Amino acid sequence: MRRKILELLKSSDGFISGQRISEECEVSRTSIWKHINLLKEDGYIIESVSRNGYKLISCPDLLIHEEVKTFLDSKYIGREIIHFDSIDSTNNYAKKIAMDQVEGTVVTAEQQSTGKGRLGRNWTSPAKKGIYFSIILKPNLEPSKVSKVTLIGAAAVNLSLKDMNIDSKIKWPNDIVIDGRKVCGILTEMSCELNLINYIVIGIGINANLDEEDFLDDYKNRATSLKIVLGEEIQRKKLLALVLNYFEKLYDSFKVDFNMNETIEICRENSALIGKEIQIIRNGNIKLGKAIGLNDEGELLVQFKDCIENIYSGEVSVRDLNGYV
Ligand code: BTN
Repeated sequence: MRRKILELLKSSDGFISGQRISEECEVSRTSIWKHINLLKEDGYIIESVSRNGYKLISCPDLLIHEEVKTFLDSKYIGREIIHFDSIDSTNNYAKKIAMDQVEGTVVTAEQQSTGKGRLGRNWTSPAKKGIYFSIILKPNLEPSKVSKVTLIGAAAVNLSLKDMNIDSKIKWPNDIVIDGRKVCGILTEMSCELNLINYIVIGIGINANLDEEDFLDDYKNRATSLKIVLGEEIQRKKLLALVLNYFEKLYDSFKVDFNMNETIEICRENSALIGKEIQIIRNGNIKLGKAIGLNDEGELLVQFKDCIENIYSGEVSVRDLNGYV
């Protein structure tokens, strides 16, 4: 009902009468009036004038299908969006429903009460400030190749930010940083049998419109938001749609013949690590080396004193010597 009323409001240039909406939706005008009030509560500005009816003045920046689809040109990624005002974690919910959903279904939330980061960390998720979403995927892929999907997510975010004139770097394999501070993190989870993936959930959190005080103290000098960088708010719904569009494009070539060329190229060109002295943290042990490249499999090439190693993303944590990145 809500979808239908919104579509009618969006497709009419000026006013649309309550009578016409009630006929199209086959419910009473009182019921329409109630729905219009609910839409207003959600942030839609709707002018109501007796005898003229209703006119949509503006739409809120919500991560719901009706708003995101305006900017969406994907075929299946994000064509189904399950939205929550608040939830514990979009990844947790996506994992619960994944088996019954079609590939490309996206779970979004305006707020997460226990947003999850990597390595058991929390992901700060204040209401209507960040972009929190999880994409359900069902590729025909060996479980060992799943980390490549994380790189596709990172490349998609990097390209989307470029479209919004924001220059970012990819901190292999799952962070996006600006001026050395993290603006986006990716958490990829999966369910699999020995050689078969049941589903992958790729969870992406973007610090879109967070303010300095939203970050916990120990995270303050390591994280930033697009709003802090730009000095103004960005449209979350547009950025979400851009990421979904780019994700589908890169993921499609990967699905067809495991082609990762474009993704790897984006990760190389925009790498926050290549050329830097880094610390590789493996099972609590720290080793110093220099990141010298990414191979075609998406593994980080690190020059150590006596050898070059290909680092597979699942096994390590990587830090710049001078700071967070
Ligand atoms: C990290 O950098 O540690 C990964 C952060 C991933 C956060 C996102 S927000 C949407 C999705 N739901 C979660 O609970 N986590 C991911």
